[in-house]
This record gives sequence, structure tokens and C-alpha cells, in this order.
Amino acid sequence: MGKLTIALDGPAGSGKSSVAKQIAKTLGILYLDTGAMYRAVGYDILKKGIDPLDRERVESAMKDIDVLIRFIDGQQQVWVNGEDVTGKIRTPEISKAASDVSAHPAVRMAMVELQRETSEQYDMILDGRDIGTFVLPNAEFKFYLVASCEERARRRHKELAERGIDRPLSEIQREMEQRDYNDSHRALAPLKQAEDAVLIDSTAMTIDEVARQIIDTIKGEVK
Ligand code: DC
Repeated sequence: MGKLTIALDGPAGSGKSSVAKQIAKTLGILYLDTGAMYRAVGYDILKKGIDPLDRERVESAMKDIDVLIRFIDGQQQVWVNGEDVTGKIRTPEISKAASDVSAHPAVRMAMVELQRETSEQYDMILDGRDIGTFVLPNAEFKFYLVASCEERARRRHKELAERGIDRPLSEIQREMEQRDYNDSHRALAPLKQAEDAVLIDSTAMTIDEVARQIIDTIKGEVK
């Protein structure tokens, strides 16, 4: 593990990635978006014409799926089999495919290994679902971010609209609830708050306020 490792877990739309980016910038450390890795696998599985729920075919395809993380000026890029997919994985279809493939143990173990290796090399904040419980149970700092379902759907709706993807709010909320259910009910390393994680409810908070609370907690403990 690097000198400083911060685990930030929580459901979709809880604000993890915006908060993690801000903290990484303020503390001068790297931000590892672990969801992007599962998204890259989901992207490649769909591209290969495989049903992301088909465990046998997905696990067998994993042998030929090579996910690579690069940091360019502190910005993460994710590559799969030589293709830079960084800008192609933020769609509702890939969100669902990522959640589906992430439940298969061979996919999880490959991604978890990559996450552990990467975190050993740098000081970083990692966001995901199982960082504090499974990937890095000894992380120095753990936070678990939540927000109401309605607020999380509103945030995702706005984010998609800003990128020209127009989806009814009710549909986004339904998909999000379905994905949270999937993520928290899989057998291996489900979405769950670690016992030693600090719980933050971001429903009525801005990104700045959440980031500030996390940084204050960290600074209060690192003397
Ligand atoms: O954080 P995200 O929405 O980009 O994640 C996409 C999916 O990847 C999520 O629905 C479940 C899976 N995921 C996971 O299982 N474990 C992680 N640490 C991160 C993401």
C-alpha cells in the first residue's frame, strides 16, 4: 500500500467521483476510479457480442481481456485490449453491463488484483463499492458516501443531460435502484459499508462540503 490510501465507497450517484477528484487535487494525490475498470470489461464484453450475465462465457472471455490504467498528468485513462475507452464508457448501457460483469468472480478477482497493485505504487484515493471491505481492508481512511435515491437520480439525470443523453428521470431512478440492488446482493464483495468507515450522507451537501469534511477528518488524524 502507498503511504496514503483513502477508500471511498457508496452506491451510484452518491457523489463519489466528483468528491474523489476534488480531494485528489487538494491533497496532490492520484484518484483511481475503479468503476471505470468494470466499465471497460463491460464495454469489451458487449463488443464481443457476449451477454454480460452469461458467467461462463464472460469468465472464459476474461482470459483475453487486458485492462490497463494509465495516468496522464494525473488524469486516469482506461484501456482495454489496446483501445482507449476512457470517453466511451459513461452510458446507461455500459453502466448495466459493468454491474452485471462485476458479479462474476473471475472478473472481480482480476480487477481487484489490478487495483491492489496500483495502490501500492502511489498515494491515492480509490472510489468503488468494495474498496474498504475487500480490496484494501487495511486502508488508513475509509468513507462511505450515501444520498437519497431521488437525489442520486437527479444528479445522474443532470450529468447525462449535460452530455446530450436525454433519459426520463423515472427511468434513470429505476435503473439506478436495479443496479444498487445487483451491486449489494452479489455473493462476492458486495456493496456494503465497512465497519470502520465514516458514513457521510451527501443528500443536502455540495461536493465542496463533502470533500472538506473528508479532508478535515484526514488532517485531524494525520498529525
Ligand atoms: O462506480 P461506477 O458507477 O462507475 O461502477 C460501475 C459498476 O461497476 C457498478 O455498478 C458495480 C461495479 N463496481 C464494482 O463492482 N466494484 C467497484 N469497486 C466499482 C464498481
